[in-house]
Amino acid sequence: MARSAPSHGPATFEAPPNIALVKYWGVRDPRLVLPYNSSISVTLARLRSRTRVRFDDDLRDDRVELNGAVAAGGPRAAVVAMLDVVRERSGVRARAEVVSENNFPTASGLASSASGFAALAGAASAAAGLELSPRELSRLARLGSGSASRSVFGGFVLWRAGSRADGRDSYARSLFDERHWPALVDVVALVENAPVKEVRSAEAMQATVRTSPDYPGRLETLPGRIDRIVRAIAARDADRLFPLVMEESDSFRGVCETTRPSLDYLTPGSRAVLAEVRALNRAAGRPVAAYTHDAGAHVHVFTLAPHLARVRRSIARVPGVRTTLVLRPGPGLHRVDPGSRTRAPRIPGRTGR
Ligand code: PMV
Repeated sequence: MARSAPSHGPATFEAPPNIALVKYWGVRDPRLVLPYNSSISVTLARLRSRTRVRFDDDLRDDRVELNGAVAAGGPRAAVVAMLDVVRERSGVRARAEVVSENNFPTASGLASSASGFAALAGAASAAAGLELSPRELSRLARLGSGSASRSVFGGFVLWRAGSRADGRDSYARSLFDERHWPALVDVVALVENAPVKEVRSAEAMQATVRTSPDYPGRLETLPGRIDRIVRAIAARDADRLFPLVMEESDSFRGVCETTRPSLDYLTPGSRAVLAEVRALNRAAGRPVAAYTHDAGAHVHVFTLAPHLARVRRSIARVPGVRTTLVLRPGPGLHRVDPGSRTRAPRIPGRTGR
């Protein structure tokens, strides 16, 4: 057997999740994860996946541990697929040990695929001796989960859809770093009885592409909306940004609901949060908050520091809201020393596994 290229010792990386202000929903190439539309997100501080990868010639098979349990089936296969890409590019043939854990409860329903695959892209490529640029890391992370391409960068991030068939022009880049708009905060409303996802996002979005009569119209409106959102963020103008964020959230929810069979991610508690945000804005006579949600029941409510206490109190009181979590824009993917710690947010009511 030919000897494999030497690997480079274990590598540990951390990556945060992100919340999309303009949603990625629909792919033109499922294998290369090439989206129909560009998307924008905010990378979130304090939450993170931490992943350690070690290639070892003595291992007979890849060993994947996720949040303290040995992974099998689909989750393991997705990790192994990314390891295979890294092996092919680096010439390393050895099997790998992957140990990954989140500092937020997996069962909480907060998206972990973006943080998980961004951290894996960083750790696997470094352990294999590949020195990838942030752009290359973004393209690699994209193969695991589209939204992971954005978690490579901190702050405000744009993932360009690109148009090439080989995907080389489909990667994320930083629009503004995490210090750009210190007053902007995200109050996450964690709702009670958030259902566990029945259909993976990657499949659900393709059902939307195939069956929602509103999907083509959504794609047409997106370039203009993206333009306006980038300009509102650049100007730190919440009066312009917040209505656009809700318009986009409504458009995303609309194409989900008109998918056949219909995709309904929200609980009565989530819907009550949307109503509360509308009521807060009506009462204030201007947009003091903006809601958005992903393919899940929890709702992210953006507001500005001066309104934070009031908005958080109102959201926490909504029936069906279990707890709220205040998150700010944070840094993206980075390498960490094995012993280092990130202060974990306290999310009461559930354990880590
Ligand atoms: O990256 P995926 O395959 O988990 O899909 C993410 C889809 C949304 O979260 C709904 C939108 C987005 O852009 O993050």
